[in-house]
Amino acid sequence: MSQSFGLPTGNALVVGASQGIGLEFVRQLLANPQVDRIYATYRRDAAALASLATAHRDRLQLFQVDVTVEAQIQTAIGQIQATTPQLDFVINCVGLLHDGELQPEKSLRQIDTDQLLQYFQVNSISAILLAKHLLPLLNHDRPSLFATISAKVGSIGDNQIGGWYGYRASKAALNMLLKTAAIEYKRRAPKATIVLLHPGTTDTQLSQPFQKNVPPEKLFPVERTVKQLLAIIADRTVADSGSFWSWNGESLPW
Ligand SMILES: NC(=O)c1ccc[n+]([C@@H]2O[C@H](COP(=O)([O-])OP(=O)(O)OC[C@H]3O[C@@H](n4cnc5c(N)ncnc54)[C@H](OP(=O)(O)O)[C@@H]3O)[C@@H](O)[C@H]2O)c1
Repeated sequence: MSQSFGLPTGNALVVGASQGIGLEFVRQLLANPQVDRIYATYRRDAAALASLATAHRDRLQLFQVDVTVEAQIQTAIGQIQATTPQLDFVINCVGLLHDGELQPEKSLRQIDTDQLLQYFQVNSISAILLAKHLLPLLNHDRPSLFATISAKVGSIGDNQIGGWYGYRASKAALNMLLKTAAIEYKRRAPKATIVLLHPGTTDTQLSQPFQKNVPPEKLFPVERTVKQLLAIIADRTVADSGSFWSWNGESLPW
């Protein structure tokens, strides 16, 4: 049986590190002395991330990347490749649920092509572009792991209550794209594991407008979410590549 991944060591990349779960991944990776270098991306103002980079100049390097622009992904990964031939751990925390006028649809009446395209661009297509450009950095003789945060509402099998068409469908598409990439990676980067993670409802700006009916014990602070996700990641083996896990250790239906 292959060995489980364990806690991250070596070089890590956090995509979408400006706030929320991604920013907390950076904090917890910095607190782990087994992690040598952390590369982190942000799109908009990221004051908290910038001050971490100032305090940890030797270990944390930042890149500005809008993940809807493939050239920006390619440039940042090229700059990482110029400093290291390999990444051991990548966590992709990018996600979009609401942004100004863009709000999750409650009804078919609210279906809008541009809004759907925006959900797919940010939540689905960006992740497969990362898988495309990261393969050389993840393909080496040590085990590597590429995790992307999906969402349980993206599970087609688990969809009981409907609504949120674009967010749900874009997370379902994300799952299919990365499941498919995991099959190709098995051939082209055999020591790399690709997984999708459900973080549980977490207190970030993404969930903020929808927290009203969430019982307090089910609304996790980011510190708890990231600890739980690191534990799920630690238990994975390469045989788990192309699978979807909840924060509580359950394997989720597609
Ligand atoms: N919070 C929850 O309850 C919950 C539940 C289930 C799943 N999730 C998933 O967990 C992940 C992290 O979410 P979060 O709760 O931490 O939300 P968040 O605080 O809103 O963080 C989302 C991140 O995505 C980045 N992002 C959005 N659009 C981008 C773009 N075009 N290019 C680059 N970066 C972009 C944001 O960067 P900027 O700040 O620079 O815009 C931010 O860093 C997401 O995939 C979300 O769907 C969250």
